[in-house]
Amino acid sequence: MDNLNKYIHGYSDYETNRLNNQAETLADLLHHDSVWDEGSIILEAGCGIGAQTKIVAPKNKNSSFVSIDISSESINQARTNADSNRFENVVFKQIDILDLPFADEYFDHIFLSFVLEHIPNPIQALVKLKRVLKKKGTITIIEGDLGSTIFHPDSEEAKKAIQCQSKLQEQNGGDANIGRKLHPLLYLAGFKEIKISPRQVYVDDSNPKWVEAFTKNTFIAMIKGVLKEAVSKNLINIEEFEKGIKDLNRTAEGGGTFSFTFFKGIGTK
Ligand SMILES: C[S@@+](CC[C@H](N)C(=O)[O-])C[C@H]1O[C@@H](n2cnc3c(N)ncnc32)[C@H](O)[C@@H]1O
Repeated sequence: MDNLNKYIHGYSDYETNRLNNQAETLADLLHHDSVWDEGSIILEAGCGIGAQTKIVAPKNKNSSFVSIDISSESINQARTNADSNRFENVVFKQIDILDLPFADEYFDHIFLSFVLEHIPNPIQALVKLKRVLKKKGTITIIEGDLGSTIFHPDSEEAKKAIQCQSKLQEQNGGDANIGRKLHPLLYLAGFKEIKISPRQVYVDDSNPKWVEAFTKNTFIAMIKGVLKEAVSKNLINIEEFEKGIKDLNRTAEGGGTFSFTFFKGIGTK
């Protein structure tokens, strides 16, 4: 699974930095309400390098987290990060979501962010997670949706560069447009009381901090990260890709605008 040639966010140093930037930039927008019942036992599934763990664990000091990921490399890094941040309410374990070694109905809550978009059968993953959730326990899922990206000035090359990421993710069994599907996915996996809350990032000249932190360091950095693979798989030629990146940067200059929507879904067992 730790195949560096495959497109799965979180495995290169470049992606590690980007995921940390993304988590910090979006902390309020995505996590202002990530506070669960005190004393809960929480499964964080697909924690990666712990970029979200370091936001949600301190917000839920009186709960305990079991944060798992299939990648041993990411788990080691997450442990190191947690040690330097001194989180006492988290244990990290290398575990596959599709092969959970926990008893039925063990957890009070399950949290996952930017994970289902990489899993070929997200309903199956949700059903496996549901098994280890207590009756009336809840699940929180955060995903992006690449198709929600809109910007000004418009550019065919920028759209084509963005599409490369979508195609690479699809080739690896993932779905870059999964955000809009969270409600049906949760429903089909048997969750009840489903609520979806879209969280839009909209950036223009009035907010230079977000231009840097989101448009440039989160979004454009993510698209740049697929250049090599997209070109080597002949999805695009290098000149077109570079023009696409230049045009995306143009949206982060005077007069440009940029928007992307994340989706946060909650369901009850
Ligand atoms: C984009 S990263 C997100 C990491 C973290 N949740 C965050 O938001 O920063 C996706 C993570 O899902 C993990 N993952 C993918 N499939 C998995 C599986 N079947 N079981 C456990 N983890 C998985 C990957 O190893 C990767 O660390």
